[in-house]
Amino acid sequence: MGTIADLSRAEEFLDKGELKEAKSRAASLCRALYETEDKDKVLGWRTGEHSVMQLKEIRRKAEEIRREADVFVIVGVGGSNQAARAVIEALPVKEGPKIMYLGNTLSPYTIKKTLEVMEGKSVYIDVIAKNFETLEPGSHFRILRQWMERRYGKEDMARRITVTGTRGSRLEEIAGENGYLFLEFPVPVGGRYSAFTPVGLLPIAAAGLDVEAYLAGMEAARKDCQENWEDNPAVRYAAVRQLLYRRGYDIEMMVSFEPRYGFFAKWWVQLFGESEGKGKKGIFPATSIYSEDLHSIGQYMQDGRRNLIETFLSAKEPGASVVVEPCPDYGDRFDYLDNMDFARINQAAEEATWEAHLKGGVPCIRFQVDKVCERSFGELYYYFMAACAVSGQLMGVNPFDQEGVEEYKRSMFGALGK
Ligand code: PA5
Repeated sequence: MGTIADLSRAEEFLDKGELKEAKSRAASLCRALYETEDKDKVLGWRTGEHSVMQLKEIRRKAEEIRREADVFVIVGVGGSNQAARAVIEALPVKEGPKIMYLGNTLSPYTIKKTLEVMEGKSVYIDVIAKNFETLEPGSHFRILRQWMERRYGKEDMARRITVTGTRGSRLEEIAGENGYLFLEFPVPVGGRYSAFTPVGLLPIAAAGLDVEAYLAGMEAARKDCQENWEDNPAVRYAAVRQLLYRRGYDIEMMVSFEPRYGFFAKWWVQLFGESEGKGKKGIFPATSIYSEDLHSIGQYMQDGRRNLIETFLSAKEPGASVVVEPCPDYGDRFDYLDNMDFARINQAAEEATWEAHLKGGVPCIRFQVDKVCERSFGELYYYFMAACAVSGQLMGVNPFDQEGVEEYKRSMFGALGK
């Protein structure tokens, strides 16, 4: 088991001396992550200490949700829902409630459609909001509370609501006043770094997924980053992408031939976009899912402006087997596929794309895991969070704040008369 980061084909685009120097700077920053005192309260994710916080309550509530709920609504936006969603959407969720998401849009159509699905069902919700001022989750909590109060009454509704917020926040007070379960969103963990806190753990447990394996993955990657700070996937990746950036490669596309990674790539976009895009700097993170997007973005990747880095994410184990059976009388000219498994066909497409794009002048990076599973998600989340922390600092930005996001909120609040 283990995440493999192959950076060799991207390193070919770089000067060896510069690369050595960048790796050594990245390694020092990685070591500093674990040796620096957390004065700004932003490094709470690095030790994984918040992953055991309230784990018993989380398990108990998850079991209740799985037993009693037909629909479980996760209310949150950005870092407050992306990590859990990526795991849940990628893995086969065992029997249990239908999981839905709110708090991430202001579209009345989507809100209405979600409420319609909830009609006549046993509904549980988890409202995740670090700063309980964000309009999207806050307003949806209002709507859901009213909806639930009408259906269940105050008492029955109380057990159906979990809130995940910071200690001392208005959200915690509301939980106390109404008897909702309160889970802590640790202050020293930013939303996009919160995959291993109650923010990610309750939804993953409520989906019936293996929380232990997920945390074991995190722990393996944490140990690797902390103990092998000189050379681990996070350090190598951060160094290479920063050097490429200095050479003018300012767009990075995370691609996968596995559509199950679609929401993971969204999480990655959020992590790097919000962490690095500041001070008029930053690699623009984007994502494409192949083969679908090979027929659109694939053209640009092959032959458009040469400012692109392509980061492939794949799993060795395909997770299923579908073999093309021979049908000599069909005359469709696809007989060359006879007896081939789609696992092989998909892999051939991936290798062909990798080679073609390299030839076209795109530095290609590959992250590969054995299997799409809870453990590998734990590893990937941790490696990318550590990489982002190092990479942002190499670039000279603070990878833990998001002033730009606050700007849109200020102007929206103004428009709405707050
Ligand atoms: O990573 C971040 O800090 C952000 O993406 C937040 O998670 C997002 O803005 C949601 O914030 P909040 O939970 O405070 O509403």
